[in-house]
Amino acid sequence: MNQQFPTLKQTTLKLRDQFNRPLTDLRLSVTDRCQLRCHYCMPTRSGSGFSFLKPDDYLSFEQIEALCHIFVDLGVTKIRLTGGEPLLRPGLTDLIGRLSAINGLKDLALTTNGILLSDHAEKLLASGLNRLTVSLDTLHNASFQKLSGSNSNVDKVLDGIKVAQQAGFKTIKINTVILQGINDHEILKIAEYFRGTCHIVRFIEYMDVGTLNQWDLESVVPNSKILSQINAKYPLKPLSPRHYGEVASRYAYEDDQGEVGFISSITQPFCGSCTRLRLSADGKLYNCLFAGEGHDLTKALDNGLNDCHISAFIADLWAKRADKYSENRSLFHHLQENIQKIDMFRIGG
Ligand code: GTP
Ligand code: 5AD
Ligand code: SF4
Ligand code: SF4
Repeated sequence: MNQQFPTLKQTTLKLRDQFNRPLTDLRLSVTDRCQLRCHYCMPTRSGSGFSFLKPDDYLSFEQIEALCHIFVDLGVTKIRLTGGEPLLRPGLTDLIGRLSAINGLKDLALTTNGILLSDHAEKLLASGLNRLTVSLDTLHNASFQKLSGSNSNVDKVLDGIKVAQQAGFKTIKINTVILQGINDHEILKIAEYFRGTCHIVRFIEYMDVGTLNQWDLESVVPNSKILSQINAKYPLKPLSPRHYGEVASRYAYEDDQGEVGFISSITQPFCGSCTRLRLSADGKLYNCLFAGEGHDLTKALDNGLNDCHISAFIADLWAKRADKYSENRSLFHHLQENIQKIDMFRIGG
């Protein structure tokens, strides 16, 4: 691959897919490993054995950096690092340093489970990371251990958030998946914990990602219900989206005590403005969170194809993209019970 950057002219027209959606976001998984085994992602019940990538399967940081230059040239302005758990990838701050130096990249963010955050926060900021999102579904240790299938302690995550704030991350987003009968009694408590801070809790509807979680509609708590519950105690007012294609509907507390968000992929799908392409740690591109099949970039990299060829490959893939899984979910569930879908931990949500 040609390592002399920049080799490509900045594309003036944004790439558009079959539904006229521009490519602006790359979600980049740096590992499929995780210390947790969340019920909705990598459930540990019998029969759910996981196979993980081997060291040789991973894209190198040089390869990722080279690819990200191409993505940015094609119109990507935001890259989100994901996993598995991205903080488990050795040397991650080196990669962040490389990516944050790319001209034209406006936003570099990371989604973490927070377990290792207190050890890494300062270095993450220093290496050029702009924003952090932390997953947190409960405030209680017993329930954290049950939900995350681990012996880890939720205090580690809460401490990580505090340390990250002290290190200089201003607004941290908190991703909270609510499951009927499991943690729905904690909705107000979680909202209250972050109310009055600069952090933003986003309630995420439980999704039928992958094939392992035995998802059913009864386990989903519609965000309209969560919104009403919070609004009844702490009146909320809607806010405009910050940018085109934002996945969360934003609300502010009327008494100026901060913001909450709702990501409602089940009850209010947002495929119409989906600007996201996903790259797995082993170099496969996925057009959709629910895609069955990835498009392998490693052959092109191994065969020494130059940046222009790889750019043309990605542009062609995006131009043909017609994925709208969430909008068609009911159709899929009625027609095909066992369709193939990539697992969440391989592409990080
Ligand atoms: P911002 O960059 O701050 O807007 O964050 P984000 O919402 O892009 O990132 P984050 O990783 O925190 O996304 C939150 C969650 O929304 C993800 O973990 C997924 O559960 C869900 N989500 C994000 N993108 C998509 C998508 O394209 N489709 C669906 N169905 N869900 C998505
Ligand atoms: N439904 C909704 N959200 C999920 N996440 C993982 N699996 C699911 C699912 N099945 C969320 C995690 C984390 C982010 C990466 O994706 O809670 O915040
Ligand atoms: Fe949980 Fe995220 Fe790990 Fe999956 S990758 S088990 S959602 S922490
Ligand atoms: Fe995008 Fe697929 Fe999610 Fe729809 S379901 S918003 S197309 S990733």
